[in-house]
Amino acid sequence: MQRALKLSLFLFAIVLVNSSPAADVPGDWWRDTFIYQIYPRSFKDSNGDGIGDLNGITDKLEHLADIGVSTVWLSPIFVSPMVDFGYDIANFTDIDPIFGNLKDFERLTAKAKSLRLKVVLDFVPNHSSDKHPWFRKSIQRIKPYDEYYVWSDGKLVNGTRQPPNNWMSGFQGSAWEWNVERGQYYLHQFAIGQPDLNYRSAALMKEMADVLTFWIDRGVDGFRIDAVALLFEDAQLRDEPVIPNTGLPPTDSGNLEHIYTRDLPEVYGVLKSWRQSVDNLGGGKKILLTEAYTTIPLTMKYYEAGGLPMNFMFISNLTGSSKNTDFKKSIDLWLNNMPHGDYVANWVVGNHDNHRAASRFGVNRADQLSMLAAVLPGVGIIYNGDEIGMEDTPVTWNQTVDPAGCNAGPDKYSQYSRDPERTPYQWDDTISAGFSTSNRTWLPINPNYKSLNLRRQKMTGTSHYAVFKKLVALKKLSVIKNGTTQIILMENNTFGVVRRLPDVSPVILLINFSDVSVGVDASTWLNAPEEMTVYVTSVGVTIPIGTRLNITVLRIPPAGSLILV
Ligand code: NOJ
Repeated sequence: MQRALKLSLFLFAIVLVNSSPAADVPGDWWRDTFIYQIYPRSFKDSNGDGIGDLNGITDKLEHLADIGVSTVWLSPIFVSPMVDFGYDIANFTDIDPIFGNLKDFERLTAKAKSLRLKVVLDFVPNHSSDKHPWFRKSIQRIKPYDEYYVWSDGKLVNGTRQPPNNWMSGFQGSAWEWNVERGQYYLHQFAIGQPDLNYRSAALMKEMADVLTFWIDRGVDGFRIDAVALLFEDAQLRDEPVIPNTGLPPTDSGNLEHIYTRDLPEVYGVLKSWRQSVDNLGGGKKILLTEAYTTIPLTMKYYEAGGLPMNFMFISNLTGSSKNTDFKKSIDLWLNNMPHGDYVANWVVGNHDNHRAASRFGVNRADQLSMLAAVLPGVGIIYNGDEIGMEDTPVTWNQTVDPAGCNAGPDKYSQYSRDPERTPYQWDDTISAGFSTSNRTWLPINPNYKSLNLRRQKMTGTSHYAVFKKLVALKKLSVIKNGTTQIILMENNTFGVVRRLPDVSPVILLINFSDVSVGVDASTWLNAPEEMTVYVTSVGVTIPIGTRLNITVLRIPPAGSLILV
């Protein structure tokens, strides 16, 4: 026990020595840190209207500083009719009154800066709102706005007017909408209220680069670039091939192979130009996180174009029933395919478009993905609430507001709706979980808030919150920053991630992917010391932090994960 105490103190000291804030590191300041995504409508409501806002976020920034993340990424806060809750933008350079105003934003960034937090905004370049003044002028064919969107006459089939091709919207049905006034169809890859912008217009390209400048001048540290793979479409507007027998509803865009609406090579050139624009402005390196759910080779190309392509392996490729082999395959796939050079890996734990980590993987595995994101090299990207193990909230059809759910109708909405992962943050056990003073919130509060909330976790020794704080601190160890990485399959559906650096004790993460307790000789499998110390465990594993373990005869509890040093 004496030795364990000494070791803990030693580790604590290492963490302190290494804890110089990310803000002081030149170059890729995001390296080996956690980025925290805030969904502004659901983080904290400061004015009692039941919707989160900027002043609410500002009030709660201490929470981010407390858990130790380097960066806050805000989902869209710009003027919007809220058809897609901010991803339909009517003014790219002003704040929506629901969230506040530019002064509030200034206060937010000033406080973030004082807490040494970087601020990243969502940049939504693929489409605007149909209420954007550009769209009005485009309808009226006023130059150069006439070409800001993708317009087509459509075609006549047996004397009836039809859309030009079979392209489909991500929110069900045709991607084309007829506009009576202009007498043409316009393309919308998402809701009807989200017309697609035309990147073949030089004037539009310039407008969007100016948007980046506007926000960088207001002190932001980079952008998460929404739906970047969709910026260009085939100029000939050819039909996309139909995938037979998908089993999906006929209105689902998953029935098409998106060879003409996604991943066109021109996309990378635009990203390069944005990298250049932001670099030319000086004032420190800016992060450009790209959102593209695509193949590995096409994802990796974003690195060389100046982006940090978000890694959705934990979301798209893995589930709670994935095996050790599946995890190893997915992690290796990323690490082995990154381009050579000084590029940084990243691991997305969750976001506002996908079910919560604790619900995708099961509550017993709520910490598993963050533990992986911490021990694996590079950046961890976590969605607000995942650090306390928040779960999806059941949302009825009548409560459904997400266009992806609403457009699917009452029978299918639950397959598509993103509302369950977007419900308000659970701060405490007071009214509306401390999110709002109102008991009418824009989405319902999860009924589990009385027991699952931040305040309670802060008062309990073992909690997701306490685990997450330790994970963020771990990122600062030199062995995590610079060590080699091995993922080693062990018996009985377990594996170990081993980080090693000469003359430093290794860090290992052990995960039991099965739901029964498993015995392993981790020392032999991983070529690790016979005795190691517990740094942290997933909630549910009852081995105290600091315990010295003989890992030649280790028992890993069902669904348990342990980090040993
Ligand atoms: C991706 C965003 O994350 C999602 O929430 C949004 O609906 C679409 N892009 C359209 O902007």
